[in-house]
Amino acid sequence: MADQGSPVSAEHFAYVRARTTPEDDFLAQLRSAAIEAGLPEIHIAPEQGAFLQILVRLAGAREVIEVGTLGGYSAIWMARGLPPEGRVRTIEVNPAHANFAETWVARSDVAGKIEVHRGAGLDVLPRFADGSADAAFVDADKVNYPGYLEHCLRIVRPGGLIACDNAFAFGQLFDEEPEDPGVPHVRAFNDLVPRVAGLTAVIAPFGDGCWVGVRN
Ligand SMILES: C[S@@+](CC[C@H](N)C(=O)[O-])C[C@H]1O[C@@H](n2cnc3c(N)ncnc32)[C@H](O)[C@@H]1O
Repeated sequence: MADQGSPVSAEHFAYVRARTTPEDDFLAQLRSAAIEAGLPEIHIAPEQGAFLQILVRLAGAREVIEVGTLGGYSAIWMARGLPPEGRVRTIEVNPAHANFAETWVARSDVAGKIEVHRGAGLDVLPRFADGSADAAFVDADKVNYPGYLEHCLRIVRPGGLIACDNAFAFGQLFDEEPEDPGVPHVRAFNDLVPRVAGLTAVIAPFGDGCWVGVRN
């Protein structure tokens, strides 16, 4: 049995990106406008957007929740994978990011499918009912990932999808002295996830590494 796989290199990343369904002009414009507006360039990679859209479609999701909206890039990718009555509830603590996202969501082809909920993830998530989502995507402050996962396990129905970004810790996962203060939290979360009851999960090596799990 071949259980070694192939080491994933920067070359593989570029190869995957070049051969994945690309973002459309609207999403490219959104990214440019976000830079002009001073938003940080920390949205998911385009190939990760395609991957999330495929997953929500395969999950037959109608209701998606997200923690960490930024400019709405990932929310739009996911909303495009939903049926006409589908909805993404996305949570954002930074008012400037929420304002930008609302403006661009309103201009998008999925304007009626995305609600931006303003506030901190751990304050807003308790307002979402048990079993009220088919899928969740977590992409915010790393220190709170264990708390977000706990809420996702409550809010996402059995058989639903739970994805969490940045398993590769901004490229600093194996650094001895990482610059980003979130790195120890990512490492601790990566060690926690395989031990969480009620979740079968794997790190998909796209973008910055993305946990993908099914709630049992
Ligand atoms: C990596 S960005 C999200 C990128 C977005 N998912 C995308 O790919 O387009 C993280 C976002 O989480 C927000 N954030 C940070 N801490 C948060 C918190 N405690 N609650 C909600 N949002 C938070 C940040 O303001 C930032 O906009």
